[in-house]
Amino acid sequence: MGSEKDNSEDSSTHIMASDENGNLLGVCRLQKNSPDQAQLRFMAVNETFQGKGIGMKLIAYAEENAKQQGAKILILQARETALEFYKKCGYSVVEKSFLMWDRIQHYLMEKKL
Ligand SMILES: CC(C)(COP(=O)(O)OP(=O)(O)OC[C@H]1O[C@@H](n2cnc3c(N)ncnc32)[C@H](O)[C@@H]1OP(=O)(O)O)[C@@H](O)C(=O)NCCC(=O)NCCS
Repeated sequence: MGSEKDNSEDSSTHIMASDENGNLLGVCRLQKNSPDQAQLRFMAVNETFQGKGIGMKLIAYAEENAKQQGAKILILQARETALEFYKKCGYSVVEKSFLMWDRIQHYLMEKKL
């Protein structure tokens, strides 16, 4: 288990999904980059509960929250293996962006809210 923090940690919105037994199902974090633009980061669904629609629900919640904060566009950096998931959530690829640890290709994606 590890943890990741950056300078936007305290000013970001942390979103967590759990079930009625308190099991942690998934998380994501929403940060505001500018008045119009929000960014989704640290998106992950507990392996045991993947493929059950939880990721999509987290995204829908984050989008609603971003809209309430005045954002007009939501961006994210998708790793290659999650591209299709984000496409199903309505995101489109803007550009091939960066390579993490020399092997995990990421893509900048966006969705107008
Ligand atoms: C990617 C991730 C967040 C998706 O969450 P999830 O709860 O499993 O996804 P959902 O069940 O909401 O899936 C929604 C749709 O996307 C599809 N989908 C989900 N993950 C997918 C993947 N990796 N590749 C292709 N399609 C995928 C599902 O089949 C489903 O399609 P359907 O509506 O046609 O049935 C989750 O698998 C995860 O945490 N993966 C590991 C961490 C990671 O990659 N995070 C993203 C970093 S950028």
